[in-house]
Amino acid sequence: MQINTNYANLQDSYLFLTIAKKVAAYTQAHPENKIIRMGIGDVTQPLVPAVIEAMHKATDEMAHKETFRGYSPDQGYDFLREAIQGYYAKRGVSLKLSEIFVGDGAKSDIGNIVDIFGEDNRVLIPDPVYPVYVDTNVMAGRHVSYLDANVQNGFLGMPDENMQADIIYLCSPNNPTGAVYNRAQLQAWVDYALRHDAVILFDAAYESFIADDTLPHSIFEIEGAKRCAIEFCSFSKTAGFTGVRCGYTVIADELVCGETQLNTLWARRQATKFNGVNYITQRAAAAVFTQAGQQQVRDVIAYYRKNAAMMVEAFREIGLWFTGGENSPYIWHKVPEGMTSWEFFDSLLNRAEVVGTPGSGFGKNGEGFFRLTAFGTHEDTAEAMERLKKLLR
Ligand code: MLT
Repeated sequence: MQINTNYANLQDSYLFLTIAKKVAAYTQAHPENKIIRMGIGDVTQPLVPAVIEAMHKATDEMAHKETFRGYSPDQGYDFLREAIQGYYAKRGVSLKLSEIFVGDGAKSDIGNIVDIFGEDNRVLIPDPVYPVYVDTNVMAGRHVSYLDANVQNGFLGMPDENMQADIIYLCSPNNPTGAVYNRAQLQAWVDYALRHDAVILFDAAYESFIADDTLPHSIFEIEGAKRCAIEFCSFSKTAGFTGVRCGYTVIADELVCGETQLNTLWARRQATKFNGVNYITQRAAAAVFTQAGQQQVRDVIAYYRKNAAMMVEAFREIGLWFTGGENSPYIWHKVPEGMTSWEFFDSLLNRAEVVGTPGSGFGKNGEGFFRLTAFGTHEDTAEAMERLKKLLR
């Protein structure tokens, strides 16, 4: 037997697991203290009433033989894919049902999509960014090169003609920096991908946090994108599904490699390795797109936005450089002079009992930065900001 030796090239532990272990050790040593968690972007507000109602109804259906459901159709039930289709149509993007794939969240689909690409592709990944893109390519033994994102370019790397890339990852609004590509910038990426026969893997998991109406929510709002992009989206941040698990991936018929449509490969991959999302969850996800569901999830997003506004105000007072918090649930800030991101993590945990995510966990350009999430409760966010002010002023 041989193991996949590429695993030896990974970091010892997945970023959020390392953080969880450190926090568990601290909690064990100080069981009576109140730690405020602003590390992993996990939501705190409950599922909205429209979703709960749909889940209850679907659960009852499962209790009767006339309405019981077994395996889901491979790509998801039509009722959910039609709802997703309608959501895109509102932004002027027309999709066929066959181009929409329901899955158990953006993380799985982004991780699994590497299966449909050949080994020798040149992979370009922004730095800093969500670590799953790098890790899944390292596991597959692919060479990865990095697209520098930094203060100078507003954490939005752009293509240049000398770049060698077949597979390009983009995340907008960006995790961790909160930076969002505008239409012209995304058009430049699409044009580059079309010229170079590359594919863009576009992670839109945070699209519902975009407040500025001029910014695109989907890469398919950009001319030519159907011929060069795959989009991943999730109900986790939009509707609090981090524990429920549901998302979707869109691959248009126009995306081809030679004669082969990429969506036929993804359909084949999913049919072999995935048995679909359960009926109750798909009904719950469809409820997000009803009129009531949309209003209710918007209210929850407004709740998190209020936290982000509180954090922005605190950082202005503290006087540390920061960005994000406007079109994203993350604040991305510099750590105090002379500290590394992990040193700041330890100091914040030990001295203020607040947990965040060290920027270096998102790539080398994240060193010297730190990410805090706005997904907490108002009370915890307010208290965490007071603790930060005390520590940093
Ligand atoms: C994050 O904190 O970056 C995300 O919550 C992680 C994830 O979505 O898997």
